[in-house]
Amino acid sequence: MTDVNCSPLTTEQLARAAELAEEFLGGQSGAAALAASFARHPELTIALTIDGTVEGVAFGHPDVEGGAILEGITVDDAHTAHGLGSLLLVRFEQAAADAGCCDVSLGSGGGYVEHFYLKNGYRQTEYLIAIPDGDRQPLDLDGLEVLRERHWEPNYRVLNIAAPDGYSPPVKAALAQRLRMQASDVSCIFYKPVTRNR
Ligand SMILES: CC(C)(COP(=O)(O)OP(=O)(O)OC[C@H]1O[C@@H](n2cnc3c(N)ncnc32)[C@H](O)[C@@H]1OP(=O)(O)O)[C@@H](O)C(=O)NCCC(=O)NCCS
Repeated sequence: MTDVNCSPLTTEQLARAAELAEEFLGGQSGAAALAASFARHPELTIALTIDGTVEGVAFGHPDVEGGAILEGITVDDAHTAHGLGSLLLVRFEQAAADAGCCDVSLGSGGGYVEHFYLKNGYRQTEYLIAIPDGDRQPLDLDGLEVLRERHWEPNYRVLNIAAPDGYSPPVKAALAQRLRMQASDVSCIFYKPVTRNR
């Protein structure tokens, strides 16, 4: 019989969860990011276990506006597409609400990952654009408003751009096409309000 469970990550489970984060998320959301989230916000670090083995993890932290940022979520690819990622996401949302956060937001991977968030009730509020730091040429955003700009290690200028039409693959594709010589990534920021249900 299969026992599936989502609960806060324990210290004993950290190494296995870090392996998953590194293999399936990597970069800004890999093992180091998971360890940092777990150290600072263990209440927002949720493990998915199957028969006692960690097969997925979701982790994040509060933002400055009273919400929570989902830094990373992954399920071992031996177990994806069976609803377990959705289960883990719902458990993370509960943890965020229990921690007093009013919403969850995240920067999504492309392709089916966007479908994953949309089917779980998220809507797109912004685009995230990463530009190698040296590139200071004007950007052709076709009138889309720049909301925030910051620096990401090691060398990226990152802009949050308004998405007034919400999730729109044609608008995203046109934006990526216009910025193809400058941006290394154009991705969607998704958002969902959360409330305590107990
Ligand atoms: C995103 C992720 C956590 C979802 O976990 P999951 O257990 O597959 O989640 P669910 O089964 O609840 O939903 C996934 C949906 O995407 C679809 N899907 C999953 N993997 C897919 C793939 N490789 N190609 C196409 N569709 C896929 C599933 O069919 C499902 O949609 P459906 O319910 O309409 O059939 C998991 O796929 C994963 O770890 N991906 C790699 C890491 C990653 O990209 N994380 C997100 C960072 S923003």
